[in-house]
Amino acid sequence: MKITRSSWPILIVSGQFNAQNDEGFRLRQLTTELEEIQHCKVIPSFSYEDGYEVFRSRSDFGCIVVDWDIPEENPEEKMTADTFVILMRKRHKGVPILLLTGRLGIEKIPVEILKDVNGCLWKTADTISFLAGRIEIHLLEYVKKVYPSFFGTLVKYANEYKYAWHTPGHMGGEGFLRSPAGVALYKFYGENVFRSDLSVSVPELGSLLEHSGVVGDAEKNSARVFGADHTYYVLNGTSNVNQIIWRSQLVRDDIAFVDRNCHKSLNYAMVITDAFPVYIIPRRNKRGIIGPVRLSEFSPESIRKKISEDKLIPEDLKANPVKMSALTNSTYDGVCYNVVNIKKQLEKSVENLHFDEAWYAYARFHPIYKNHYGMTEDELDENHPPIFCSHSTHKLLTAFSQASMLHIKNGGKVKINHDEFNESYMMHGSTSPQYSMIASLDVATRMMEDNGEIMMNDIIVDAIHLRKKIVAIEKDLKKKNKDDWFFGMWQPKKVKVKGKLMPFEDVDAEFLASNQEPWVFTSRDNWHGFEDMEKNYAMLDPIKLTFTTPGINDKGKMDSEGIPASVVTNYLIDKGVVCEKTDYYSFLLLNSLGTTEAKQGTLLSAMLSFKELYDKNAPLSQMFPDLVHEYPDEYKGVGLKAHCNDIHRYFKEHRILEKMQEAFQVIPDQAMKPSEAYHQVVRKNVEFVELDEMMGRTPAVMMVPYPPGIPIMMGGEMMNEKAGPISEYLQLRQDFENIFPGYESEIHGVERTERDGKKFFRTLCVKK
Ligand SMILES: Cc1ncc(COP(=O)(O)O)c(C=O)c1O
Repeated sequence: MKITRSSWPILIVSGQFNAQNDEGFRLRQLTTELEEIQHCKVIPSFSYEDGYEVFRSRSDFGCIVVDWDIPEENPEEKMTADTFVILMRKRHKGVPILLLTGRLGIEKIPVEILKDVNGCLWKTADTISFLAGRIEIHLLEYVKKVYPSFFGTLVKYANEYKYAWHTPGHMGGEGFLRSPAGVALYKFYGENVFRSDLSVSVPELGSLLEHSGVVGDAEKNSARVFGADHTYYVLNGTSNVNQIIWRSQLVRDDIAFVDRNCHKSLNYAMVITDAFPVYIIPRRNKRGIIGPVRLSEFSPESIRKKISEDKLIPEDLKANPVKMSALTNSTYDGVCYNVVNIKKQLEKSVENLHFDEAWYAYARFHPIYKNHYGMTEDELDENHPPIFCSHSTHKLLTAFSQASMLHIKNGGKVKINHDEFNESYMMHGSTSPQYSMIASLDVATRMMEDNGEIMMNDIIVDAIHLRKKIVAIEKDLKKKNKDDWFFGMWQPKKVKVKGKLMPFEDVDAEFLASNQEPWVFTSRDNWHGFEDMEKNYAMLDPIKLTFTTPGINDKGKMDSEGIPASVVTNYLIDKGVVCEKTDYYSFLLLNSLGTTEAKQGTLLSAMLSFKELYDKNAPLSQMFPDLVHEYPDEYKGVGLKAHCNDIHRYFKEHRILEKMQEAFQVIPDQAMKPSEAYHQVVRKNVEFVELDEMMGRTPAVMMVPYPPGIPIMMGGEMMNEKAGPISEYLQLRQDFENIFPGYESEIHGVERTERDGKKFFRTLCVKK
């Protein structure tokens, strides 16, 4: 399907559209000319205010035409023409704005407005076809520029309808049309997907592996926009970005300093590089939410101490430099580090810094995140090490799944040499890249450059409105009945505004969106629950929404009744609301570029309906018929409230949160490096061992329970007495699953087997 000019409508804003006078007549003629002769599409709007609402809600306008002198007597008009133009220009730097003026109108237009617009049209004197032609010219010029370089070239190529004699085998989609299943796929995706699915043999599009031609240009452009010296497009996710980074800097027996709260891809990075990992443990609050690693852990003394105490690193290697540090920023729950402060510590003892910002590619584009992301613009001194950043562009920006970026900032002295680095890049890349994915990275870059701050501000403000609404609902319910309940939000309770503390829900959303301070963790106001918070060290990202459920207070005291978050999120899924992560008493939703107010409304209505069903202890079979059908012995005849409390009592009696806390404070003894554990898997020197039998054994693979989604054990670590709390926690999870079937949650690296109707956890361990 070709994109035509009617795909880029023209917004014409004038109160004169229906006027029975010469101006009204000419406006209607202009619309007809544009639509019938020029094949454009016109969207009329009758007031500046309405026009602005329409403009705000969509980004596909090809040109905006504004009647500058709407008669003053129009009672409908609440906005002035100049405000309208200023607001539009603020939201969108590029779209052409043309003013329709009368003979004397131009004299009245302030200079700052004239600077913001692309031209004026004399509405009563020029011919209709001339006016339409001017508008069309502006539209076409603009639309040409909308396409960033790679995407533009790809579209141009696809529109040339060349005969393909190269891979991929479907050859522009034709291959699919030979069989009904293929036709179904073709029709579902549409022709453009296939015509732009090309092979590396198309020279116009450059080479991803060599970073040449338009692909190379797009990467360089992304580097500029994201503040990097080099940017690489990686088409197999941030999992691979992490491995490319590590492979480029570490070899056998190098020492790496790794956040235990790391993604599993970093474990695999240790495996492939054959490095010695030295771990740092993040803080955790009483609800189980993972917080920042202590700053003191990054000091040269602490790092050296950890290395000297490590039992695996041979003595003669202990004085070697730490080749890489890896820190997750932001965490899943939206804890972002003040990178400037951390760098000052780490640069004293680490040769390369790696910030895994898979969930945080947008940070650079809004001032609220100032200094809290890897590619910050602070002054780098000459001893500064190179900084690597991983971005899952596909996660919270707009790119196809698996489309990620790898950013590098050179060190003060140590520059990353592209040719050397590219060896690692090529080791992890396919020789058949997906061009649509590249285009999506190119476009994501352009979107952030053009509208990043505005888009981010919109979603931050939206998230804050939702945060405030949740508090307001709870407050309202409690006003009527002090014992009533609602879900909470993990966020500041009070905010300082002009020196005065105000309840969060009463603070203006724009104020909260434009000030970093309310979100920065302090030790004085410990709403976050992390002990000994360092000054100006970490903040909460407002768009990561952690909802809390009743059952535990901020100090960790469990109430007699409670609502486990997994019951809530199971209910929400049935209502079409899919959460990002579920912990014991909290769940996480992400407000990203794709979030709409309708989505928020659906969420609130589902949460309120859960509350209603809970309060009346509605039969479980009404909400979860499949669960009750599958496990009638456990759940038949049980009400929702009773069910929540059964699970809650189990958690309380078995101190599950404390057990989790204890388990995650342990860094087990290492019997071997992660790489060696993997070698055992390859050599088939491994066997499944059930958890009950695991004491004294060495798991060969990493175990990652959800919640909290961070590794509890790495491959090669020993399940011995020191790891006792880990074994106990996993045991508790196993028992829980047997008592509450249907609530199995993911544990990577752990399999379930069944015997005599009971489930047992087992994992691959190194043979004795
Ligand atoms: C911190 C972190 N790093 C890396 C990744 C891997 O990203 P991707 O899914 O793009 O491979 C994830 C995925 O969840 C992650 O959470």
